[in-house]
Amino acid sequence: MNILAMSGSLRATSSNGAVLHAALDGLDPALWTVAHATIDTLPHFNQDLDGGDATPHPAVGALRAAVAAADVLLVVSPEYAHGVPGALKNAIDWLVSSGELVDKPTAVITASPHPAGGEFAHGQLRETLGMLHAHLVEPACLRIPLIGTKVDRESGRVHDEATRAELATALTALTKAAPQPR
Ligand SMILES: Cc1cc2nc3c(=O)[nH]c(=O)nc-3n(C[C@H](O)[C@H](O)[C@H](O)COP(=O)(O)O)c2cc1C
Repeated sequence: MNILAMSGSLRATSSNGAVLHAALDGLDPALWTVAHATIDTLPHFNQDLDGGDATPHPAVGALRAAVAAADVLLVVSPEYAHGVPGALKNAIDWLVSSGELVDKPTAVITASPHPAGGEFAHGQLRETLGMLHAHLVEPACLRIPLIGTKVDRESGRVHDEATRAELATALTALTKAAPQPR
């Protein structure tokens, strides 16, 4: 089974990256293969370069193939200016016409240093992914507040046990939503 992880933060020492890794820690490597979506090399979405006779940019083709190959999708993101980071929204825009998100079991997790845990970005991601007919797995969706207190600066790991437990529960729910092999 394949899980595709997509982070809305491009920072090397991202706290959302730490959340993503903590979430993936709970997966059984005998059952799950993890892939990471590359979104930082995507061109800006341009409808003229999408669909019809257009040949997709290699990074767009790779993203679409990665989403198509995934049994489940894990999206983890910060909030910027009460919104979804542009790089992540751009990636999602490239998936609108191609349809790989339809019925894809998907978790949305936002983490923020603020007490609301990125509520605006969380809501906007849910709205956009829902509009694209992704299957939002409710028990796998989380807002993580005060993330700065939960990540160890030295190791870059989520050290807060309650958060790690929440992430494990979320990942269990997400993996249970994967299509069963016939
Ligand atoms: C340009 C910018 C805008 C931000 N806007 C928000 C915001 O609206 N809400 C929020 O909760 N945090 C906001 N933050 C703080 C980010 O949540 C914080 O920098 C977070 O650590 C980024 O995630 P990362 O560590 O995964 O890169 C903003 C940060 C930046 C740099």
